[in-house]
Amino acid sequence: MGATHRIIMLPGDGVGPEIVAATGVVMDAVGKRFGMAFETEERLIGGAAIDAYGTPLRGEDLDACRAADAVLLGAVGGPKWDDPDAKVRPEQGLLSLRRGMGLYANLRPVRVLPALIDASPIKAERLAGVDFVVVRELTGGVYFGRPRRRWRERRGRAALDTMIYREHEVRRIVELAFDLAERRGRRVASVDKANVLDTSRLWRTVVSEIAAERPSVAVEHVLVDSMAMRLITGPATLDVMVTENMFGDILTDEASVLAGSIGVLPSASIGATRGDGSGRRRGVFEPIHGSAPDIAGQGEANPIGTILSFSMMLRIALGEEEAAAEVERAVEATLDAEVRTRDISGGGAGVSTMEMAEAIAGRVTS
Ligand code: IPM
Ligand code: MG
Repeated sequence: MGATHRIIMLPGDGVGPEIVAATGVVMDAVGKRFGMAFETEERLIGGAAIDAYGTPLRGEDLDACRAADAVLLGAVGGPKWDDPDAKVRPEQGLLSLRRGMGLYANLRPVRVLPALIDASPIKAERLAGVDFVVVRELTGGVYFGRPRRRWRERRGRAALDTMIYREHEVRRIVELAFDLAERRGRRVASVDKANVLDTSRLWRTVVSEIAAERPSVAVEHVLVDSMAMRLITGPATLDVMVTENMFGDILTDEASVLAGSIGVLPSASIGATRGDGSGRRRGVFEPIHGSAPDIAGQGEANPIGTILSFSMMLRIALGEEEAAAEVERAVEATLDAEVRTRDISGGGAGVSTMEMAEAIAGRVTS
């Protein structure tokens, strides 16, 4: 028997429990095929945790995530907890998890699989060869800046959020993007709004300094509004994109349209290496899509985004490269065999969440 990996499962809300359970089936198949054991433990986050404990993430659950080898997360949020005046929100659980584990980098690979070219509304000729990674800063910017509040004044209500970046926060994420680019196509597109925002001007200055130290990587600065266009008009020109938290959130939902469905895009939220010389990193592995309350409980969600997130976990957090590649191969083979959930079926009913997972798991075991 090989290694034992201790994984915390955080299904969360909406379709979260379905896609995490489906990924568990693939996990079992990987365990059998590669002779490794996954010791899993389920805990609550988001709306489910608010309902059970009154808080979206308990301190002891955060501690358990910190102590585990890796965390697999479904999704958080839903209409039940969406009251804008609510004191606690499901999303706070996810943000506390990212911040509490020091996961400052979110890697969102965008690849257009040939089998899914027709599932995208974008013209096929623009999609050929699309293969890039968005490196999204994850623990800074307007998501976390203080002060933030809402108040009343004579002329009506007002609200304030703060967008703040410190040099060290910009430096570590940009350096990670350069490291990644060195192992890929050696091109970095840094996205900002330097024509308007001071945080972006600091960002651009730091990127230029790092670029001067690392001439093997070609850098371009792209304004975020222009990048929104380029994602549609020329996505195949991208290799590594690096950007701040909120721009990254918005641009990756847009980028998912290229891949055919937001349901197929994985992500890895990672922090510093473990410092044990293995190069492995602590991380939360989560699909980029949300809780999809409109289809929750119906067994029709696409589990591929979560299954590919598990593959990223194998590679980045567990050091199991061979198993990671095998999961990716199994997903591609399943799509090549024209197994489709509803979101990528071009109008057909499609197979269920579990049927998709079993089809993938079957191709891992064989
Ligand atoms: C994402 C999500 C989250 C984010 C929400 C649920 C807080 O949209 O992971 O992209 O904005 O980061
Ligand atoms: Mg998002």
